[in-house]
Amino acid sequence: MLDVVEKLLIVDNNGTAGTAICDVLVDAGYGCTTVSNALEARQQLAEHAFALIICDVASSNGDAMNLVADVLSGHTSLAAIIVTELDAEGAIESARAHGAYGCITRPFAPGQVLFVVSNALYRRQLELEIQSMRAQNDALDFTGSDRVLSAEQETIQRLCRAAEFRDNETAQHIQRMSEYSALVAKLAGMSRYEVEVMRAASPMHDVGKIGVPDSILFKPGKLTDEEFELMKLHTQIGYRILSGSESELLQMGARIALSHHEKFDGSGYPNGLATDAIPVEGRIVAIADVFDALTTKRCYKEAFSVEKSVSIMSEGRAKHFDPQLLDLFIDNLDTALEIKASLPDTDNSNN
Ligand SMILES: [Fe+2]
Ligand SMILES: [Fe+2]
Repeated sequence: MLDVVEKLLIVDNNGTAGTAICDVLVDAGYGCTTVSNALEARQQLAEHAFALIICDVASSNGDAMNLVADVLSGHTSLAAIIVTELDAEGAIESARAHGAYGCITRPFAPGQVLFVVSNALYRRQLELEIQSMRAQNDALDFTGSDRVLSAEQETIQRLCRAAEFRDNETAQHIQRMSEYSALVAKLAGMSRYEVEVMRAASPMHDVGKIGVPDSILFKPGKLTDEEFELMKLHTQIGYRILSGSESELLQMGARIALSHHEKFDGSGYPNGLATDAIPVEGRIVAIADVFDALTTKRCYKEAFSVEKSVSIMSEGRAKHFDPQLLDLFIDNLDTALEIKASLPDTDNSNN
């Protein structure tokens, strides 16, 4: 006997074959309902759930084949097999074309009926499992990539916003330096994907300022050496906040947080790294961050002109900044200035 009683619908306007098939199947443990025409079959299908429909197509005037076609197009979880004559090639081909799972040919032996029915039900089960897996995969594709990536980005934006509250930097600074960073990354030949990760990760550069005491972060005057040492810790605090994740975005954010104050000649902090030992993302963000700081008004200074800013940065070529990356940035200053113009500080900016 079967573990689960599968309900089968037999359509046979002649009666004999249907009854014989029904007897075989009931003996084998299936639940069978037999009807004599397509109309009754449609009523049954509307009212009950069946696993399989068995249609005798040879003994009908075409209704049964139409029924098979309708059933297979309208009931995606229902399997169909036909009953026909051994030589009814046209009916068999037509049923196969409509998606029927099998054919019982007259005269049939009970074993043939059970073989065809159990195969059809097994195939139906597999199809249902595939459909279910596809549905889960579609959901995963949606939630798993787009949603997770956007959730990741939203988390990061909120983290950066939290850091902004602890800093004098504006949202526009964060956006501009993020765009400048993406620009240099693109000019440096990074892939489109890397550029996008760079764009999303660069705003995290100062997230470690969350851990710097107010008395230092908001001190109006110059910091003492001791205070400056504490301020420098924002690089390592940011790294500790962001590192250890499997997310590429957070990993890049962690590298940027740690290395954005390193200088090309090794005179930066926290690790005094030089040249290629500084992660390229850190070298890029250094350019983007300083350019924006120079060209915009801060609480401690007016905005420098673009010319003066470029001149100051050029003095830092191969000292503060990676010379090749700086050249790329300056060679494409027009694009940087378009970014600057598109993201102006608002009147209530705190810079
Ligand atoms: Fe910083
Ligand atoms: Fe910054």
